[in-house]
Amino acid sequence: MKFALFAVALFTTLSLQRTLRYRTNQTDFSAPLQFKKDGTFQISILEDLHFGENAWDTWGPQQDINSVKVINKILDAEGPGLVVLNGDLITGENTYLENSTEYVDQIVGPLVDRGLSWASTYGNHDHSFNVTGATILARERRWPNARTTQMVFGDDPGVSNYYLPVYGPACASPDECAPELLLWFFDSRGGWRYQQKDADGNKVGQPDWVDFSVVNWFTQTNAELTNKHQKTIPSLAFVHIPTNASLALQEAGVDGHRQPGIDDDVPLAQQAQGWCPDGRDDGTCAYGGQDVPFMQAITTTPGLMAVFSGHDHGDTWCYRWDGVLPGMTVAGNGLHVCFGQHTGYGGYGSWERGSRQILVTQAQLKEEEKSVDTWIRLESGNVVGRVSLNATYGQDRYPPNAEH
Ligand SMILES: *[C@@H]1O[C@H](CO)[C@@H](O)[C@H](O)[C@H]1NC(C)=O
Ligand SMILES: *[C@@H]1O[C@H](CO)[C@@H](O)[C@H](O)[C@H]1NC(C)=O
Ligand SMILES: *[C@@H]1O[C@H](CO)[C@@H](O)[C@H](O)[C@H]1NC(C)=O
Ligand SMILES: *[C@@H]1O[C@H](CO)[C@@H](O)[C@H](O)[C@H]1NC(C)=O
Ligand SMILES: *[C@@H]1O[C@H](CO)[C@@H](O)[C@H](O)[C@H]1NC(C)=O
Repeated sequence: MKFALFAVALFTTLSLQRTLRYRTNQTDFSAPLQFKKDGTFQISILEDLHFGENAWDTWGPQQDINSVKVINKILDAEGPGLVVLNGDLITGENTYLENSTEYVDQIVGPLVDRGLSWASTYGNHDHSFNVTGATILARERRWPNARTTQMVFGDDPGVSNYYLPVYGPACASPDECAPELLLWFFDSRGGWRYQQKDADGNKVGQPDWVDFSVVNWFTQTNAELTNKHQKTIPSLAFVHIPTNASLALQEAGVDGHRQPGIDDDVPLAQQAQGWCPDGRDDGTCAYGGQDVPFMQAITTTPGLMAVFSGHDHGDTWCYRWDGVLPGMTVAGNGLHVCFGQHTGYGGYGSWERGSRQILVTQAQLKEEEKSVDTWIRLESGNVVGRVSLNATYGQDRYPPNAEH
């Protein structure tokens, strides 16, 4: 009885704290992102959280409890300025129409408790028969901490396509300053169409690449921003499913000393996998090449330093994409492509859970060759794969990951 009372009191206190923070504007989440006074801006990527597995047994809900623990540990250790939820927040195949998006509240609880804001991209498992990007976004937006939004509308562009500017610490009003950094978010779609079945009663597949209209929006918007501010603004990009370039780089060879990380998902799964060039997804084609326009866009965007993906839980390396790789038509321009670390207990694989960190400093952005530093914080507290994504990444020799 005493325990029950205590539990009720604790629960009330915790929910009150959350409500209060929601109401009292402790942090002004409508304000744009800014570098800290010390000139740094850190991002923690939580990817492949896969909440909502097997709600009907005890294993599934236990995975979510474990995932919340991982998130708490990462945030305590790293204290980021922004959290990126890089796709597959929810295992949509397993969830129920009436409550699929409630998992969002479990995911963001540790962020809300710390007054942190976040930005999501949606993954193939976030688009399913009972849940989709639009319903997840609506749930996220109930929290003022959500910076996820939708900037591309129309036929079929997915949902999480948008950008966020990051300003310097001294910027008093965004109208008066140029952003020092742009963060681009893309929806690589995939999965199944929401509440749709074909004539035979089967779920309907959704294309698994960044839509062409989004590629056009990206290049146009970036050109407008460059023109408006009369300068190239350094940028980073986030997209759940990696492009075919990651597969070609993997085939070229991942060296544990030059591209430290796990390389267990071989061959990795990329955008446009399972689709034919003519747009069929009847299981007859391995790859349709529809990610070529997106690859062309990211390799010709001045200032874009790195693209971060998830999806392949067993791959955690970063690679510098230079030149034309065998079989590829699109040439790399020194862009870095990175995986993160599987953060959630849901989803396949038992590699140690963790989260890729990105540290952006104003000092490194002022250099001729702009660079960012990155590492992976594991659930154990250990840090692995700390590298600098600079001009010599790929030649620099690092110790290999001691732990997976
Ligand atoms: C919180 O701050 C924003 C921006 O300053 C303002 O628009 C909003 O009304 C504030 N909300 C409350 C509850 O004070
Ligand atoms: C959603 O509903 C199912 C079926 O009633 C239940 O098992 C599950 O726990 C619910 N999930 C959430 C997040 O409330
Ligand atoms: C979707 O939700 C409905 C209603 O809760 C449920 O009956 C069904 O099993 C869920 N999953 C799929 C794939 O339809
Ligand atoms: C995709 O990558 C594979 C593996 O390197 C390569 O054989 C293929 O030609 C590439 N296709 C395109 C369109 O880039
Ligand atoms: C890139 O970073 C590595 C590791 O910090 C360093 O050894 C190397 O000199 C740097 N390269 C350049 C061009 O600054």
